[in-house]
Amino acid sequence: MTSVQDLIRKKRDGKMLANEEIKTFIDAVTNKTIQDCQTGAMLMAIWQKGMVPEEVETLTREMMSSGEVMSWPKEWAGLVVDKHSTGGVGDKVSLVLAPALAACGCKVPMISGRGLAHTGGTLDKLESIPGFNIHQSAAQILEILGSVGCCIVGQTETLVPADRVLYDLRDATSTVDSLPLITASIVSKKGAESLSALVLDVKFGRAALYKDLDSARELAQSLVHAGNLLGMRTAAALSCMDAVIGRCVGNSLEVMESLETLKGRGPEDLMELVTTLGGLLLQMTGSVSDLSEGRRKISDAVIGGAALSKFQAMMEAQGVANETARVKESAKAPPGCGCISRLRVRLQIRSLACRGR
Ligand code: URA
Repeated sequence: MTSVQDLIRKKRDGKMLANEEIKTFIDAVTNKTIQDCQTGAMLMAIWQKGMVPEEVETLTREMMSSGEVMSWPKEWAGLVVDKHSTGGVGDKVSLVLAPALAACGCKVPMISGRGLAHTGGTLDKLESIPGFNIHQSAAQILEILGSVGCCIVGQTETLVPADRVLYDLRDATSTVDSLPLITASIVSKKGAESLSALVLDVKFGRAALYKDLDSARELAQSLVHAGNLLGMRTAAALSCMDAVIGRCVGNSLEVMESLETLKGRGPEDLMELVTTLGGLLLQMTGSVSDLSEGRRKISDAVIGGAALSKFQAMMEAQGVANETARVKESAKAPPGCGCISRLRVRLQIRSLACRGR
């Protein structure tokens, strides 16, 4: 059997890894039979030499099946959706969008991430709410989706455990901005959620992992291709990340700004992202006839307070004490924590025809 050293050498020398070899590497990562320094060396070899699409597909599938792949009641067919961002500064879209989608009748089992490189992590933001528990088992996720409609959780020992290990080591080894590694990390998590539809917010600009539009477009294509291969109806939006989203940066400040948004007082750029990405997902599930109807429906859920009720119910279901979750008076977002970004969302709806669930 090939040793891990052989696999690292092969990728270091720019050769293509066979499916079996990628499986061996991911099994070793998952079963912790490989040293962190070896994993770091392999990550750096992949960062430097890249991977061909076939290797990316295998890496994604192996990471997805390193843990449980969730299954849902058949009445939810077509309704299980999610969005994922490649990482931004002040990006609190998930905190508003997941409950807004739940208020529109979708099921959102969001497996999210921590901060990577300079970009903020949704999980870190949620953990600034006292009691919020990002560690939920597959059975608990099913229960929360049944009662609330959305949850936001982290990778665990049983849910995409390979991504949990690789994610941290990529951050520690400066190997975050790699097309194959980002693709496999994001799409493996979404594949484990057994989604009907997935929308990806791919950032470009000064504060994004990829600075220029062309590389972001290439990443979007890779993500959409991998998502569709896994049977999820997948689309991507390219959005500009030259300035902070909204006005606040910092975990608890971003939670406060999200609450303001859920009370109908959110900044325009954040609302534009939320309504566009959410509207797109509603269109992909077939529950609205076009994007503008989808955007309107999401906006109504936010402005009318239905999304806030879902957010409060999600907090309670994930461990936040009732009196903390029931936010009575407005927690005002501090002024001037960042400049208001002028957002440009470019929709790149790609290859919607797929083997979706
Ligand atoms: N989000 C992820 O989950 N993984 C990445 O690699 C980048 C953003």
